[in-house]
Amino acid sequence: MESHRRHLLFLFLLSLAFPSTSTIPRSSENDYSFDTSPPPSPPPRPPVQPNTSLEYMDPTLPPLLPAQNPQCSLQILQRDFAAIAASSSPPAFFTYTPPANCPSPWSRVILELSATASDIQKDRIAAIWIAGAEILRTSTPFSLSPGVFWRVRKDITRYTALLRRPTRFSIMLENNPNATLTGIYSVNVSLHFYRGAVNRLNSHPIIRGLYREPADLIIPISNMTGPGCWFRVTNETDVRTRTVLIPNNTYRAVLEVYVSNHGDDQYWYANPLRSNDVGVAGASGLASRKPNGGFRQVVATIDGQYVGSAVPFPVISPGSVNPFFWAPVAAIGAYDHPSYDLELTPFVGKLIDGKPHEFGLTVKESQPYWLVDANLHLWLDAWSDAVEGALVRYKVPPLHLGRQADWKNADGKSEMEGQVIIRFSGWVSSSAGNVTTSVRHKFKFKSHVEVEEKGEMKSVDMETKARTNLRIEKDHVVIGRVVVETEAPLNLVTVTSNGGGGTRIRKTKFFHEMMEARSATEGKTEDWFNTITDRQESEGSVLVGEDGEVVWGSGDTKSIYKFRDDKKCYLRTVNMVGGKLEEDEESSSCAAAALSGAMES
Ligand SMILES: *[C@@H]1O[C@H](CO)[C@@H](O)[C@H](O)[C@H]1NC(C)=O
Ligand SMILES: *[C@@H]1O[C@H](CO)[C@@H](O)[C@H](O)[C@H]1NC(C)=O
Ligand SMILES: *[C@@H]1O[C@H](CO)[C@@H](O)[C@H](O)[C@H]1NC(C)=O
Ligand SMILES: *[C@@H]1O[C@H](CO)[C@@H](O)[C@H](O)[C@H]1NC(C)=O
Ligand SMILES: *[C@@H]1O[C@H](CO)[C@@H](O)[C@H](O)[C@H]1NC(C)=O
Ligand SMILES: *[C@@H]1O[C@H](CO)[C@@H](O)[C@H](O)[C@H]1NC(C)=O
Ligand SMILES: *[C@@H]1O[C@H](CO)[C@@H](O)[C@H](O)[C@H]1NC(C)=O
Repeated sequence: MESHRRHLLFLFLLSLAFPSTSTIPRSSENDYSFDTSPPPSPPPRPPVQPNTSLEYMDPTLPPLLPAQNPQCSLQILQRDFAAIAASSSPPAFFTYTPPANCPSPWSRVILELSATASDIQKDRIAAIWIAGAEILRTSTPFSLSPGVFWRVRKDITRYTALLRRPTRFSIMLENNPNATLTGIYSVNVSLHFYRGAVNRLNSHPIIRGLYREPADLIIPISNMTGPGCWFRVTNETDVRTRTVLIPNNTYRAVLEVYVSNHGDDQYWYANPLRSNDVGVAGASGLASRKPNGGFRQVVATIDGQYVGSAVPFPVISPGSVNPFFWAPVAAIGAYDHPSYDLELTPFVGKLIDGKPHEFGLTVKESQPYWLVDANLHLWLDAWSDAVEGALVRYKVPPLHLGRQADWKNADGKSEMEGQVIIRFSGWVSSSAGNVTTSVRHKFKFKSHVEVEEKGEMKSVDMETKARTNLRIEKDHVVIGRVVVETEAPLNLVTVTSNGGGGTRIRKTKFFHEMMEARSATEGKTEDWFNTITDRQESEGSVLVGEDGEVVWGSGDTKSIYKFRDDKKCYLRTVNMVGGKLEEDEESSSCAAAALSGAMES
C-alpha cells in the first residue's frame, strides 16, 4: 500500500506538469530571459492520468528499411532485472549458438533490445558484451510512469567475427529498485541476420567504422573477470590495462573505445574551473564534485605509450539536466552511446613481434567514475603466416590547455581551451603489398562556464571539433583516403530560484548537436561520403526537493536528425511538448530539411 500511495503522489505531482502551464516563451538564441514566477498552485485533486507517451525513443535512422526481412532471427535473452547491484551480483550470462538455418556470411546483423519498465525507475547504465567485447552501451529511460517501453536497434555487422562460432554473451544493467523506485526492467535481446544485398541507407554513427569490411578478429580490452566487463576509471592516473598477444599476420588495427560518465562526473561538461579550495558554489549545481573545469579526454596507450584519444561526446543520461526533456525522447546517443575509433595500423609493426603488449585506457582530468573499455579490431592476412612492419613517424606534442578563471564568491567565469595535431605513420608489408598508413588527428576544444546572480544563473558553452585524415599509400602512390570530421557544440543555461519550503525551481534551456561527416576515396573509382547531424533543443523547468531529487517538472524537446550520403537523404523531426509528441515526421527529402531550417551547419 505504501508504495501505491507514493506512486499516486508521484503521479499527482507529475500531473502538475501537464499540460505545460508555464511555457517559457521562445526567444532569440542568445536571449535567455526566463519567467521566474512561482510554480502554479496545485489543483485540489489529481486530474486524470496525464496523457503521456509510454513509448520512449531515440529518433535516429532506422537500421534498415521495414520492407527488408531478415533471413533469420534469434531471441538470445529474456530476463527481468530487479536488483543487480554493481558490485554484488554477476551480470546475466547467456550462451549463443550461430543460427543453424542461416549460417555466416551475413551481409548485415542487427541487434534489437526491447524492454519495459514495470513502474517508475531511474535511468540505469547497461551494456552488452560478446566474449568480453562490448557491442552496445545503453541507458535505460528515466521512466515517469508505469508501463514505459522502448526499443534499441543497432547495426552490429562490424562485430560479425564474434558471431561465427558459439560464444558467451553478457549483459549488465545496474538496476536497484527500492520502495520509491519500484520499477523492474524486463529485457529481451534478439539478433536479426540478413543475407544478400541490403539497402545501403544505413550509416548510423554507430557502425561508423573507418573501414567497410568488418574485422577478422576482435580482442576485448576489458575486464574479463569483472561483474560488468567495463573498467571503472576514477582519475587520470588510474590507467586500466589488459595484456594481449596479437596474431603475427595482422595487417590493420583499429581500437574502438566505449565510455560513459557517472557519479561525480555526471555533469563534467558543465563543470567550472576554480581553485580547488572553493567548492562548486551556486545553487545551479550541475557540476562535478571538484571544480577542475569541463575538459575530459579518453586516452589509449600501448605499453605506456600514447596511441590515440577522443574527447567524448557528452551523452546526457535520461535523468540529467531535466528528466522531463528526455521523456519520451532520449537525448542524443543515450540509448546507443557512440564509440570512438582510433586508427592503430601505424603501430602494427610493433604489435606483431610475437610478444604480449599492454593496452591501457584512462580518462584525463576525470573524477569518479567512468566506465571504459575497448575492442581491438584486427584484420588478418589469410595468405601469409607473418607480416612485417614498422612505425616510421610518431609526433605527439603535449596538449596545452589554456585555463582562465575569474571568480568572486559564487559568481564569475572560467574558460578552458586547447588544440593539438597528432601524426603517426607506419608501413605494413603483407601479401597485399607494402602499404603505408598515415594518420593526422586534429582536435580543438573550448569550454566556457559563467555563473551570475549570486550563483543563481549558470551558462555553459562547450564545443569540440575533431578531424582525422587517413592516407594509405602503396609504392609511394596514394591508394586511399578517409576523412572523418566531428563537431559537438553544447549550450546550457539554468536559472534557479526559491521554490518555497526548501525547494528550488530550476529553469533550463539546452541545446546540443552531434555532427559527423565521413568521406573516402578508395582507388580511383569508389568514392563515398555521408553526414549525420543530430540536434536537440529543450527548455523547461523542474522543482528540486531539499534532497536534490526532482519533485516535478515539465519540458519540451525538439529533435532534428538528418542523414545524407551521395544517394539519399533521411530527415526525422520530432517535436515533444510537455511529454506529448506533437510532431513526428520522417522524410526522404533534404529539401524539407532546408525549409525547416535543419540544414544550417
Ligand atoms: C490522449 O491522446 C490521444 C492522442 O493524442 C487522444 O486521442 C486522447 O483523447 C487523449 N486522452 C486524454 C485523456 O487526453
Ligand atoms: C519478450 O519476449 C517475450 C516472448 O517472446 C514476449 O512475450 C514479451 O512481451 C517480450 N518483452 C518485451 C519487453 O519485449
Ligand atoms: C530509492 O533510491 C533513490 C535513488 O537511488 C533514493 O533517492 C531514494 O531515497 C531511495 N528510496 C528509499 C525509500 O530508499
Ligand atoms: C576487474 O574486476 C574485478 C572485480 O570487480 C576487480 O577486482 C578488478 O580490479 C578489475 N580489474 C581491472 C583491471 O580493472
Ligand atoms: C586514482 O585512482 C586510484 C585507483 O582507484 C587510487 O588508488 C588513487 O589513490 C587515485 N589517485 C588520486 C589522486 O585520487
Ligand atoms: C606466426 O604465427 C604462426 C601461428 O601461431 C606460427 O606458425 C608462425 O611460425 C609465426 N611466424 C613467425 C614469423 O613468427
Ligand atoms: C616498405 O616501405 C617502407 C617505406 O617506403 C620502407 O621503408 C620499407 O623498407 C618497406 N618494407 C619492405 C619489407 O619492403
